Amino acid sequence: MVLHNGTTRGGCMLKSVTRTIGILTSGGDCPGLNAAIRGVCRAAYDRYNMSIIGIANGYRGLIEADARLLKPEDFSGILTRGGTILGTSREKPFKSRKGEYDSEVAQDKVEIIKENYKKLNLDCLVVLGGNGTNTTGYLLSKEGLNVIGLPKTIDNDIVGTDITFGFHSAVSIATEAIDRLHSTAHSHNRVMVIELMGHKAGWLALYAGVAGGGDIILIPEIPYNMEAITRHLLKRARDGKSFSIVVVAEGALSVEEAQMEKKERKKYREKTAQPSIGYRVARKIEEATGMETRVTVLGYLQRGGIPSAWDRVLATTFGTAAAELLARGEYGKMVCMRGNEVGSVSLEEVAGKYKAVPLDHYMIDTARSVGTCMGDE
Ligand code: F6P
Repeated sequence: MVLHNGTTRGGCMLKSVTRTIGILTSGGDCPGLNAAIRGVCRAAYDRYNMSIIGIANGYRGLIEADARLLKPEDFSGILTRGGTILGTSREKPFKSRKGEYDSEVAQDKVEIIKENYKKLNLDCLVVLGGNGTNTTGYLLSKEGLNVIGLPKTIDNDIVGTDITFGFHSAVSIATEAIDRLHSTAHSHNRVMVIELMGHKAGWLALYAGVAGGGDIILIPEIPYNMEAITRHLLKRARDGKSFSIVVVAEGALSVEEAQMEKKERKKYREKTAQPSIGYRVARKIEEATGMETRVTVLGYLQRGGIPSAWDRVLATTFGTAAAELLARGEYGKMVCMRGNEVGSVSLEEVAGKYKAVPLDHYMIDTARSVGTCMGDE
């Protein structure tokens, strides 16, 4: 089904639908969450006459019954605000201590959620979050709850949608940081390593790296080879470039590490006594080239602050599209964007997966075409 294409919207036809919805934000925060909350609430309240219950701190609020009726003034004036007015947590009610999804182990939390869903008189739960949030949403829908998901994350790694809100803002923040590193790298003739977020997927490092003109970009999808990195840096120096910028995703790994089991890799990394990938790569660069190298870990700056104009538009669009699904009673779905169309995808299709950068993605080729080393050649 296509939402928001101007022809298939339910719009005023569904004006008299009266339902009570719960809304929560879960997982890491990101710019655009409040814009999306506003989009859902404005459309659900003004257009479809629904009551909205705001649930505090993600799924934890649903376990603790920490919820309140949202009034129009609660979702007014929040379009540009960073963070989330609802609060968030990384509570995963289905997750066992072993780190696997197993409803038997944590049955009590799931049962409490189901009871509270009933007590709050909810017709549907709208969950704004990343892979974990939408996976939990799917599992709850299998338990009989009506759930609609919205894709948020700076990592842009959710299956079923081309784009997530929060990503564009984070790319802008990271790009500005790279721009600023450029001038200081130039002044001091240094190699600057900047570590960006992205444990499993390298979208953010790839986009910000290309936008900021990174000389080397390392992403988890392409295991790096120190010899290739060294060759590239030395060539730049021979060509008269006195500095270099290396953009590293936090989950990037070397060819050697890629061949190791998870436990073995952990031990290997501990031995290096470096706090993170940025530092490990910087140390190796200094050892191999003798070039003075500095590290910047951008960290949570990538998730904080106001959303970009584009994320405001996307979050608002996704929010109002979720209200459209609510009005139609189409549950068990996540709002998505594919190409230029806003639509929906079943939560089942999204759950338990993540979207890596495909190795044949045009952005990898774009980066290589402008002479950027991707760490492998
Ligand atoms: O939201 C996803 C993410 O930004 C990852 O890229 C990062 O590794 C993670 O969150 C860290 O967040 P936290 O410390 O809040 O768990």
